[in-house]
Amino acid sequence: MHITVKNLNFLYSQKQVICDLSFDVLSGELLLILGRNGSGKTTLIKCILGLLPVNPNSIFIDDVDITSKKYVADVGYISQKDEFNFEFPITGKELIQFAKTNKNSPYTVMDVAKRLGITDIINQNINTLSGGQLQKVFIGRVLINDPSLLVFDEPTVGIDSTSVVHFYQIIEELLKDGKTIILVTHEPSLALPLKPKILTLNENGEYKKQRYEEYLAERGDDIV
Ligand SMILES: Nc1ncnc2c1ncn2[C@@H]1O[C@H](COP(=O)(O)OP(=O)(O)OP(=O)(O)O)[C@@H](O)[C@H]1O
Ligand SMILES: [Mg+2]
Repeated sequence: MHITVKNLNFLYSQKQVICDLSFDVLSGELLLILGRNGSGKTTLIKCILGLLPVNPNSIFIDDVDITSKKYVADVGYISQKDEFNFEFPITGKELIQFAKTNKNSPYTVMDVAKRLGITDIINQNINTLSGGQLQKVFIGRVLINDPSLLVFDEPTVGIDSTSVVHFYQIIEELLKDGKTIILVTHEPSLALPLKPKILTLNENGEYKKQRYEEYLAERGDDIV
């Protein structure tokens, strides 16, 4: 899936959050969106996902203007803070199973649970899971649909360092499968070996586009 953003502007009432933003992401590419709190990262991904209204001819998915028709989104999204009723009596397994809407996806709950290393906790009620375990269940809800585009808003917050490394291994596999991935993060280091495109937003609606080599050169780092 190929995303093209062309001269995108977005305002909340009077406040311009995104200003004349253009970039593209191709199949098998990872886009990292960086920037300080309030710089517009979540706003941008909500525009791409069609959750906020944008002007015609500003966002194209596989060359189709997202405002031109109701496109059937082949997209998995993990929001920054999932609004969820944790008191609801349901297991992780059920939560993932009920999320499966793509009948063409080859994956079962157990495939996804194995991939995420959560087979041991999958039958627990979700209100007994730790924050990091629950986050993995939410990632499972995306993976089970085998979407072409995956959008993650700060997915590794609250996840231990071993699990974060594992998360990026999964991202690497998904990229090799040709998925398009957009990832908002405040901790880009572990994503850099995946050779991402990098988009850094700032609070004035301005932005900087870099290839990972340019970003590293600017930071003065080497890849770990
Ligand atoms: N629904 C809204 N109505 C009005 N202003 C909003 C709304 N949502 C966000 N904003 C403002 O838009 C700006 C960008 O917010 P956004 O949530 O996109 O930032 P962010 O980069 O995701 O920040 P963070 O790193 O804290 O998640 C902020 O100044 C925020 O206060
Ligand atoms: Mg945000």
